[in-house]
Amino acid sequence: MKIFLDTADLNEIRRAADAGLIDGITTNPSLVAQVAQDGAVTDMYRDICEAVDGPVSLEVVAVERDSMIEEGRKLADIHENAVVKVPLTEDGLKACRALRSENIPVNVTLCFSVSQALLAAKAGATFISPFIGRIDDISGEGMQLIHQIRQVYDNYGFATEILAASIRHPMHVVEAMLIGADCCTIPSKVLWQLSKHPLTDKGLDAFLKDWNAAGTEI
Ligand code: E4P
Repeated sequence: MKIFLDTADLNEIRRAADAGLIDGITTNPSLVAQVAQDGAVTDMYRDICEAVDGPVSLEVVAVERDSMIEEGRKLADIHENAVVKVPLTEDGLKACRALRSENIPVNVTLCFSVSQALLAAKAGATFISPFIGRIDDISGEGMQLIHQIRQVYDNYGFATEILAASIRHPMHVVEAMLIGADCCTIPSKVLWQLSKHPLTDKGLDAFLKDWNAAGTEI
């Protein structure tokens, strides 16, 4: 399973990339707004793309097909790692099909149903991003959607990769892995939570205590 970091924060991206733990990045307009210094984001997008060896999703903000295609081409030109992210709307699906015909990779985002995921695959999406946490937030079962999409894509041999998104805690990652999602995009906080276990901390404390008590040296 590929792990993507869900952030536009370069410090967080470099911390995870330097540890060799991430396969790519996803951003969205809200995440970019949190860290953007001024109006233009092209340089920031280039820096993000250069910080990782893998796909970096950069989202269009246009809502109409032709404008999305135009924005998508500009985003794709920023760097070879760029993946154009479009919303799962009628225009977004049409833009996806057009961008894919130019060989530009596309992540179709804001997916909340299996029927939407089917259409994204038919439009040739490189990635589909089902938003797990936001479904859970309204008392739905986000992980059920990952199950259903996996089944449909396997039934019909769609190559679109399932990118589990809107991840809120480590168990979301574990469950998505068990179901067979291709990728998971996670906030930095959750990435580091994945490394934690109280028995690891307890065990390490005991090892060091015993070692130091014996006055042993390497
Ligand atoms: C995915 O690409 C989105 O950026 C993200 O996962 C949204 O997550 P949220 O629901 O925590 O905002």
